[in-house]
Amino acid sequence: MDTLRIRGGRPLVGSIPIAGAKNSVLALLPATLLAETSCTIENVPAIRDVKVLVDLLRRLGAEVAMEGTTLRVDTARVVNRPMIDSGVRSLRASAYLMGALLGRFGEAVVGLPGGCNLGSRPIDQHLKGFESLGATISQRAGAIHLKAARLRGTRIYLDVVSVGATINIMLAAVLAEGVTVIENAATEPEIVDVATFLNGMGARIQGAGTDVIRIRGRSPLNACRHAIIPDRMEAGTYMIAAAATGGEVRVDHVIPLHLEPVSAKLREMGVFVTEGDESVTVKGTDPLLPVDIKTQPYPGFPTDLQSPFTALLTQAKGTSLIIENIYEERLKHVLELNRMGARIRTDGRMALIEGGTPLYGMRVRAMDPRAGAALVVAGLIAEGETAITDIHQIDRSYERIDQKLRQLGADVWRE
Ligand code: EPZ
Repeated sequence: MDTLRIRGGRPLVGSIPIAGAKNSVLALLPATLLAETSCTIENVPAIRDVKVLVDLLRRLGAEVAMEGTTLRVDTARVVNRPMIDSGVRSLRASAYLMGALLGRFGEAVVGLPGGCNLGSRPIDQHLKGFESLGATISQRAGAIHLKAARLRGTRIYLDVVSVGATINIMLAAVLAEGVTVIENAATEPEIVDVATFLNGMGARIQGAGTDVIRIRGRSPLNACRHAIIPDRMEAGTYMIAAAATGGEVRVDHVIPLHLEPVSAKLREMGVFVTEGDESVTVKGTDPLLPVDIKTQPYPGFPTDLQSPFTALLTQAKGTSLIIENIYEERLKHVLELNRMGARIRTDGRMALIEGGTPLYGMRVRAMDPRAGAALVVAGLIAEGETAITDIHQIDRSYERIDQKLRQLGADVWRE
């Protein structure tokens, strides 16, 4: 059951509900460790990475109960222990255990985080933040050892705009003494969501969503109930697929503002995009016009949608240019797209897409969730049948992708 098969050529038509944001819930779950009580998190997506992270919390002694899309996490009986299990290396978000355990216990031993292979993905800015807060850090046997007698508020300037470092430093700072100011912070909506959750627990965070975040430490934190924001990457992926197949799709339960970068680029291609209060409707058009994409931190074009957008651009009438500015290696999907008939040339972080090239069904492999999404978009428009192996990669970040695509009329099944 690790292969997705798609018979291409059908326009996607209809509407689908968008799940809660993966890159928010993967930070909220470790954040629950900061309080010795129980929190309720609603609108949790049914994705593999959530299951992995829930297992890690349970290994720390947290009690986690799932009812539908609602998770209750009771961390009263959590006991600190080294987190060096295999699950830690399977996802990048396990890095948040450093900030959460350091914040609650003043000590943490966490295996070096893994996750999508997108180049080196250092955590130097995370560690810089923890040291600034007063932690001593050493690295032994593939794990980071952090210890702080007391965490004291300080001013931290991030050399790189980093979602993970911004969130991880927030987690460690909410229980520190005094005020912490993070400068050159990332401004992604998921960061605002984490700050909203922490403030719901009684933290005092101001400026989330801007590049200067102020955290006034206080303890203890209390229980809270929080509904996760919609997943802009899931929504954007279906919007791209609708444009690619020349269909008409409405994505529901979204925040249109968060989708503005994708909507704007689709409009530049001549695609019709209309926004409701909590929905966006995309109607494909012919011909599709070529566009250039430069990935940037929010509110720029998101790197996580660069891969599926590349598949769409193979159908534009003309040449498009993509520059991937966030990661050094995020063009792996190009190899598989070219095997399906695309004509894309790459050089470092740049990809030149010829466009107007018919795609043909092929056996291809999902290297990471977003590269897998690119292959799904390509399979939906290819002539014949596409078999995408390692579909578990896609299941890490996309909820029931085959069911949702079938709901939109696609000829797709798991094998
Ligand atoms: C988060 O990763 C997301 N993952 C990524 O989504 C997303 O692509 C990325 O943010 C950028 O928006 C989760 O939230 C779980 P970064 P993160 O720190 O936090 C460099 C997906 O498919 N950097 O913002 O790891 C780094 O190498 C995933 O959903 C440092 O140099 O990304 C990269 O070039 C993939 N030092 C850039 O900053 C550091 O200490 C942005 O990374 C940290 C990061």
